[in-house]
Amino acid sequence: MSSVLSRPQATSLRKFSETDLKGVINLYRQGFGGPPWNLEFTAQWVEDEIRKIRKAPESHMIVAVSGPKVIAISAAHVLDQNEFPFLSSVLRGSKTAYGAALVVDEEHRRTGIASKLVGERVPFFAKRGCDLMVGRTKNPRMENLYHELGYTNTGIRDPKYPDSSYFLLEIKRS
Ligand SMILES: CC(C)(COP(=O)(O)OP(=O)(O)OC[C@H]1O[C@@H](n2cnc3c(N)ncnc32)[C@H](O)[C@@H]1OP(=O)(O)O)[C@@H](O)C(=O)NCCC(=O)NCCS
Repeated sequence: MSSVLSRPQATSLRKFSETDLKGVINLYRQGFGGPPWNLEFTAQWVEDEIRKIRKAPESHMIVAVSGPKVIAISAAHVLDQNEFPFLSSVLRGSKTAYGAALVVDEEHRRTGIASKLVGERVPFFAKRGCDLMVGRTKNPRMENLYHELGYTNTGIRDPKYPDSSYFLLEIKRS
């Protein structure tokens, strides 16, 4: 994949590769280190998380790069519905893709990178027979982004992450 964003000029999207790992670790630490997350990650934790997502069924992992720098990561995969039993009333057994990670470097935010990355997931999972996309967040910026892309807030909370709620998009396949 080599789609070039209109803003900023030198940004391109491509599949994640092992050489991006260091950049992705930095992104996780930066992106989730401040409000509303205030999380601390070891490099090993991020590495394990990335490997887990890559091993998940039909995973889609894209980075945005500006020159040599990894400036964003998006990761999604087909959901094992046993993982989120509390969503069963909205998923109703449909093949569903889950947005597992999204971070944009602070200096490159508000230029449309996240919208582009989240948008890229839809045709990928539509081709693989998914009817729904789902994502969880408590970041108001991400909530705005989901609304702009047509997701609805289910209002459903995860007992493990009671401050976050799940957003749902119906994939229209032609
Ligand atoms: C949330 C995040 C991914 C958004 O990335 P981004 O590249 O800045 O987002 P975009 O430029 O594509 O913006 C898309 C929309 O998101 C919303 N948004 C993004 N930044 C926003 C902000 N600072 N305030 C309010 N809304 C915002 C807006 O609706 C925006 O559309 P608009 O610019 O037309 O108003 C980024 O802020 C980030 O990495 N945050 C830390 C990690 C995180 O919370 N990830 C999500 C985990 S669920």
